[in-house]
Amino acid sequence: MQVLDEPRKVQELTEAWRRAGERIGLVPTMGALHAGHLALLARAAAENTRLVVSIFVNPTQFDRPDDFQTYPRDLSRDLRLAEEAGCDLAWTPTPVQMYPPGPPTVVEVTGLSGILEGAARPGHFRGVATVVTKLVSVVKAHRAYFGAKDWQQAVIVRRLVADLLLDLKIVVCPTVREADGLALSSRNVNLTPEERRAAPVLSRALQWGAAEIREGRRDPEALRRGIVARIAAATAAPLDYLAVVRPETLEPVPSADPPVLLALAIRFSKARLIDNLLVEP
Ligand code: PAJ
Repeated sequence: MQVLDEPRKVQELTEAWRRAGERIGLVPTMGALHAGHLALLARAAAENTRLVVSIFVNPTQFDRPDDFQTYPRDLSRDLRLAEEAGCDLAWTPTPVQMYPPGPPTVVEVTGLSGILEGAARPGHFRGVATVVTKLVSVVKAHRAYFGAKDWQQAVIVRRLVADLLLDLKIVVCPTVREADGLALSSRNVNLTPEERRAAPVLSRALQWGAAEIREGRRDPEALRRGIVARIAAATAAPLDYLAVVRPETLEPVPSADPPVLLALAIRFSKARLIDNLLVEP
């Protein structure tokens, strides 16, 4: 596995791969790799002939400096896992390489970026959209892989690829969970033991909501109340939002007819977690 930081070097290598007829799969990450990331890498390895992982804790998508500072980092472990996953290239740029000095060019998917996660974290999706645009165009990937755990991110990336007429396919992979249902996240290490014990209530409450919908319950307000009450019974941590929305547009639904997405964000003391569940027809 090669490890490169300079964008120009990455471009030369991936350009040569393209000329040789290789199919390039890219998995963008911020490192602190876990089984969720590894599932994306496994899928990308199976569907492409070259596998690239990018590892970059992107400063522009953090709305709080303390979140950026405390974000877990372990590059040597990440590189070992990336190599074991069959990566041909790990791209580990520095902030200056990704953001040349001077007034920046930004990419913003309007509308979708201001709701749910975007409302709670101003500027977050501008940072995500900007860095993803740079990552996919430097790597010249044929396919890029994203997790359903960050559903809104995946919707926004799909939208930017369509809008900017980028020539690549976005593949969204299912959320990988702990045995007790907690969605894997690099931020889970910041949960206190007590919060970690309470955290599985998030997926349990979403599962309850999905079961209600499957049984014919359609009132989004009643579903919201039921899910909120279940979470409140297990933890005093405040919810940022609990939304019942259309999966593709993220608009609130007047009636919870599948396909419908249940999505939430909760603020534990040192970790803000998100989760969601798609209820299919
Ligand atoms: P990061 O949080 O490192 O996640 C990288 C990718 O892994 C994202 O597509 C995310 O949705 C996926 N992922 C995280 N946890 C997952 C889980 N439990 N199951 C399945 N997939 C999971 O998301 C980012 O980084 C950044 O915003 C990035 C896209 C790299 C841009 O900076």
